[in-house]
Amino acid sequence: MVTESSLKFRHIVENLSSNPGAEIVRYGRRKAGVLSLGQGEGDIATPDFIMRAAEEAMRQGKTFYGPVLGHEELRQEIATYYARLHHVDLPSHRVFVTGSGTTAMHLALTALLDEDEEAVAVTPIWKNLVGAVELAEARVREVPLRYQEGVWHLDMQQLFDSCTPQTRVILVTSPSNPAGWVMTREEMRTLLEFTRARGIWILSDEVYARTTYELVHAPSFLEVAEPDDLLFVVNSFSKNWAMTGWRLGWLVGPAAAEAAIRDIAIYDNMGPPSFTQFGGLAALRHGEDFIEQQRQLWRANRDLVHETFRASNRIEAEKPAATFYSFFKVEGEPDCLALARRLIDEVSLSMAPGCAFGKVGQGYMRMCFAVSRPKLEDALDRLQTALKR
Ligand SMILES: Cc1ncc(COP(=O)(O)O)c(C=O)c1O
Repeated sequence: MVTESSLKFRHIVENLSSNPGAEIVRYGRRKAGVLSLGQGEGDIATPDFIMRAAEEAMRQGKTFYGPVLGHEELRQEIATYYARLHHVDLPSHRVFVTGSGTTAMHLALTALLDEDEEAVAVTPIWKNLVGAVELAEARVREVPLRYQEGVWHLDMQQLFDSCTPQTRVILVTSPSNPAGWVMTREEMRTLLEFTRARGIWILSDEVYARTTYELVHAPSFLEVAEPDDLLFVVNSFSKNWAMTGWRLGWLVGPAAAEAAIRDIAIYDNMGPPSFTQFGGLAALRHGEDFIEQQRQLWRANRDLVHETFRASNRIEAEKPAATFYSFFKVEGEPDCLALARRLIDEVSLSMAPGCAFGKVGQGYMRMCFAVSRPKLEDALDRLQTALKR
């Protein structure tokens, strides 16, 4: 017999914290003709050479269950990518291929967190990291970046002081979605020294490592860490190679974590899809020109957005050093969720409200400018129309 109490889900699921970003995406999808710059992706399809590689793999019969931590060829290619780009010597058994960056962070946090332990998160932060902590029945403690004289920066002492005996892991996203802040190698070294002494893990989300403007890539914790440091690095094919819909990513951890991650991945999805991994292989081997092409679009779009914002007397924003987001404030609009809804209602434009990224994001909006020029110009026109009302 179905009763009200049998229809209840786990306490933790019933009590997940609200997700204003996902709520606004759903709100926008209910209306026809909404132009969305609310999610983190561009508007061109995955390049042909990647699609062809996956298609060929499918036709060659790569349609069966594969190894739980990914095909060895791809694990090796990811290791080669780090050697080429970051000059890091990484054995392939430290690389775990996952069904997205989101899955990578979920596997890592599921492996680490016990009930009532704590994750200290440098915020603003992408909500899915917080969600993974909550599903593990652990708690999140926010350490906000500070915005001073037009730049975001991390107060390292505040981060250290926020760690308690319950702190199991520190969550760092660099480059930061949504703030565009980039952690320096020196800061990474300092943080590693602290976590080593305290036996705390670092989970470093480096999904935007290639979405940089002055650098070929942002620094990675792997460049300054020892092989057995308590470090997980999350990465993904989504952003660099326009592969958001493929759901393919990876996790790097110490060799001692391989068995634990494999055991959880078996029960999660028995590993990533098989033939898509061959698309990933092609992306890593032949995708540098595509990344450069995308970077040119992102750079030109970043300039347009910030010229437009500078000319506006109501918008406060700085050019991000990395990522394809503008994180901005509108004078007279302290309630970002209300503004996000109003933009959909009045001008059919969807953007992420800053409060989706933690307390420090309240009052901000996040615009993804990775889209084609006409779409971006249309979005900026719509925004200006709404702000004149
Ligand atoms: C900071 C950050 N990490 C991870 C991801 C997840 O990427 P994936 O598409 O591989 O799940 C995103 C996606 O927006 C992100 O912004």
